[in-house]
Amino acid sequence: MGLVLIVDDIPGNLRLVEALLEPDQHQVRTAGGGAEALRLVRAQPPDLVLMDVIMPFVDGFDACRAIKQDPATRLIPVVLVTSLDDAASRIRGIEAGADDFVSKPFNAPELRARVRSLLRMKCYTDDLESVDAVMVSLALTIEARDRTTGGHCQCLAQYASTLGRTLRLDAEDLSALARGGFLHDVGKVGIPDAVLLKRGPLAPDEYELIKQHTLIGDRLCSELRSLHKVRPIVRHHHERLDGSGYPDGLRGDTTPLLAQIMGIVDVFDALTTERPYRTAMPTALAAEELRREVARGWRRADLVGAFLEQVAHC
Ligand SMILES: [Fe+2]
Repeated sequence: MGLVLIVDDIPGNLRLVEALLEPDQHQVRTAGGGAEALRLVRAQPPDLVLMDVIMPFVDGFDACRAIKQDPATRLIPVVLVTSLDDAASRIRGIEAGADDFVSKPFNAPELRARVRSLLRMKCYTDDLESVDAVMVSLALTIEARDRTTGGHCQCLAQYASTLGRTLRLDAEDLSALARGGFLHDVGKVGIPDAVLLKRGPLAPDEYELIKQHTLIGDRLCSELRSLHKVRPIVRHHHERLDGSGYPDGLRGDTTPLLAQIMGIVDVFDALTTERPYRTAMPTALAAEELRREVARGWRRADLVGAFLEQVAHC
């Protein structure tokens, strides 16, 4: 059982599919077109979308593509309804990201079996997502240890994914940047409060301890396959192009691009946020500091330039 959204512009078809699914006692919602379907999907994400392909205005292909391109909804299975033997529509559907197809006229047992099977799969992906949610709440708990950095994770996720969009990165990378904004410092869970929250400069051995947060975070994320794209951000967001960063002293573009992006927004956010030992730096001075880091050979000029351009328009 699950929440199924049926989409068709012909009311009779909606009623027919509703009746066919009735024995399985799913919760059913209906939408009369692609645009209404997208509104409902965003307002209350269903467990499955069963959608006709031929509809006026926003058709089934466009609505399916929009669902699959949005990181918040891309794991919702979409089944497209095509007419029998319509191979061209199936190819278009696959390109739009459809998970399965059913043909009209409906074969009731087949339709019900497909819906049940995709709802079972959705349960597994929900489990994966809840593991992600646990990781994010862990990151927010760590953030809450130091009240002066409240909202830091949210800010970083936003800055980083906006920069990613400017650089025309794909949806998977954008999602990694958004999650990396929350998870990049998750390894701080292993750093004692006395060091993490210390007012004033750190002793060399304390600094060495702080550096461990990248390795601890990487180990935590390694347990979760769903975080494979986020792991490099967690491990490498403190690397510098000249090899003077940590934990691995990577040089140049051997530091993954997503980690370089997170490194830039992390520094900017840290400088412009109030800390126990100093006040927040104005944006213009923080921008100067980032340019100095480019001149020192720590960061890529094009990435810092694109980021500062973005900040200027905020
Ligand atoms: Fe960090």
